[in-house]
Amino acid sequence: MGVNKHIAIIPGDGIGPEVTNQAIRSLDAVAKKFGHQFTYSFALMGADAIDKTGDPLPQETIDICKASDAILLGAVGHPKYDIDPAAKVRPEQGLLRIRKELGLFANIRPVATYPSLYHLSPVKSNLLEHVDIVIYRELTGGIYFGKKELNETGTEASDLCIYNVSEIRRIAALAFEHALKRKRKLTLLDKSNVLETSKLWRKTVSEMSAGYPGVELNCMYVDNAAMQLIINPAQFDVILTENMFGDILSDEASVLSGSLGMLPSASVGTGTALFEPIHGSYPQAAGKDIANPVGAILSVAMMLDHLGMPEEAGTIRHAVEWTTQNGFVTKDIDPMNFYFTSTIGELVCDCIMNKTDEAIHKANIEIRKSTII
Ligand code: IPM
Ligand code: MG
Repeated sequence: MGVNKHIAIIPGDGIGPEVTNQAIRSLDAVAKKFGHQFTYSFALMGADAIDKTGDPLPQETIDICKASDAILLGAVGHPKYDIDPAAKVRPEQGLLRIRKELGLFANIRPVATYPSLYHLSPVKSNLLEHVDIVIYRELTGGIYFGKKELNETGTEASDLCIYNVSEIRRIAALAFEHALKRKRKLTLLDKSNVLETSKLWRKTVSEMSAGYPGVELNCMYVDNAAMQLIINPAQFDVILTENMFGDILSDEASVLSGSLGMLPSASVGTGTALFEPIHGSYPQAAGKDIANPVGAILSVAMMLDHLGMPEEAGTIRHAVEWTTQNGFVTKDIDPMNFYFTSTIGELVCDCIMNKTDEAIHKANIEIRKSTII
């Protein structure tokens, strides 16, 4: 039985629109193959929204998102705002506000490795074998959203880091559940030798672990974890941590995969879930058809899982593995022998539609291969 789903699309800034286009193509291919119907509403956020409305997250976008079954986001951010750190309106504010507005308290970032990309990681290949990590980062609390103060003379500032037990429990429950479906290892990262909030995290999560006897819980100081992710990343299965530690360590962990462009993410909670590649808006590449669409396409796979369509999600993941392992990759992966963003999207769709290796004419693909100019 086919299903109908309505998806909010926020292309955003820089390469956001291009990678989002390829992600939509893969959704359309899935719809065709499985007899589903996906409809889309486009909405503004980030620098694009500031330029058009003065607001990085217009109310109309919030309304569209709330009325949808899922949200697909490209990227937000523009360098013109980085020059002035005191700028009152910034594209990122849109992202932070939508997370809070929709109650998206859990950010899920899987870090997968592909043998054909081992050489691209700064970490030695032998350490990358069997690396398959999922990070659960708390997304609507902690230092990001605590009270912020700057004294009148502008010489002293503070950011309050605050968490309560229910905020910790709701994301920890998701992480435990996910661990049950994987290697059954959960590692909590904290700084409980110093921070009161971390002590609360450790106490709360340790108490919860009695309810998940099948999951082995380890607690690790975040500074040690920063090192362990590089010297022995294969030890991790599911990682759970608070907002800012998760922000920092998920960027660190992303280098294990070889390219930032490959990684998807999901932000889930009480409202409509949001899916986005973890890479930024990469404005230097915008409009050149060279950005890696895989992070966006795999975000669609996470979306389909979330919407209860695991088989459809698996079809997308299989297609991405097929392109990646066969050398159909973008410039970030192979600067000498690369394919365009749109070609990768097309090949992923061909694979979803069961056009096997033979049906995809090598000659046609060769024509669309880029040449170095
Ligand atoms: C992320 C980003 C955001 C964050 C920025 C853009 C506000 O780094 O999604 O990880 O810090 O959460
Ligand atoms: Mg970040």
